[in-house]
Amino acid sequence: MLQTERLKADDAGIARAAGILRHGGLVAFPTETVYGLGADATDPQAVARIYAAKERPSFNPLIAHLDSFESAKAQGVFDETARRLAEAFWPGPLTLVVPVAPGCTISDLARAGLDSVGLRVPAHPLAHALLQKTGRPVAAPSANRSGRVSPTDAGHVLGDLDGRIDAVLDGGVSQVGVESTIVACLGGSPRLLRPGGVPREAIEALIGMKLEGGPEGGKSPLAPGMLASHYAPRARVRLNATEIGQDEAALLFGSAALPGIETARTSLNLSNNGDLVEAAAHLFSFLRQLDASGAATIAVSPIPETGLGEAINDRLRRAAAER
Ligand code: TXA
Ligand code: MG
Repeated sequence: MLQTERLKADDAGIARAAGILRHGGLVAFPTETVYGLGADATDPQAVARIYAAKERPSFNPLIAHLDSFESAKAQGVFDETARRLAEAFWPGPLTLVVPVAPGCTISDLARAGLDSVGLRVPAHPLAHALLQKTGRPVAAPSANRSGRVSPTDAGHVLGDLDGRIDAVLDGGVSQVGVESTIVACLGGSPRLLRPGGVPREAIEALIGMKLEGGPEGGKSPLAPGMLASHYAPRARVRLNATEIGQDEAALLFGSAALPGIETARTSLNLSNNGDLVEAAAHLFSFLRQLDASGAATIAVSPIPETGLGEAINDRLRRAAAER
């Protein structure tokens, strides 16, 4: 059992967090998408501790976080499309999977032995300051136990990982609320491996073509770490609910009144006025709150598949999948 330090979002907290990372420890830190569980990506022992703390069943490749596109170029090879995407969306909620650069210092374990690497430059000012101070790529999956709902504040992180990690840097609530969009640029057309914080439409508009992959893409070429059942609350999750059963917890979207809502155990609305950005920001914390109500089932209203709706529905389908 470790004593998990709670670090404040000031210079001393950032310096302490960077020191722990540079000595091979684990620090959870805020990004604009969700909190990440960070370790020095160049140190295989430190990376191994991530898997142990999360109880991840297998060595999935992790995303390496960097302070700038310049730093990212030392780790991966950017083709024309990757370069345009990085310039348009970094810093921000986009991860690019690109071929490993000859001088790449990211450990094999963080890459799960692949000859590609997932890179991201986060926009959150604390994440940026921490990465600069650490001066190395930081591997970070979401800071939750494997299979659980991703954390969007420091309290969520401690609920899952208190005593298992060295520290958490408390930066308040993550604004985007769903993980980064993952696009692979490995030669040929770019592929969407995971919908996330940058809507598919914004990427397609920039590159002037449709992205391969996604829920409607048939074969559904997921990133290797994406288990069908994931993001799972304890309660069963029932999607596209058009009425709410007695004693169910309801996760609503928009202003439409659902029959049966009067006898629901409890309900929360992701966005009363149907704003998908607001809905994404609330998603994981509302799932946790409804789960805590003790209801056996969480019934979820239909959510449009456009913009951030694609990422929201992806996470909800995983939460609802057979376990
Ligand atoms: O928003 C986010 O992306 C958060 C924050 C902390 O940055 N991180 C995150 O990491 O969601 P994680 O480990 O939960 O998801 C990483 C995903 C996995 O599905 C993994 O398979 C994929 O990225 N990935 C990483 N490197 C890859 C590679 N070389 N090829 C294919 N997929 C890769
Ligand atoms: Mg995760």
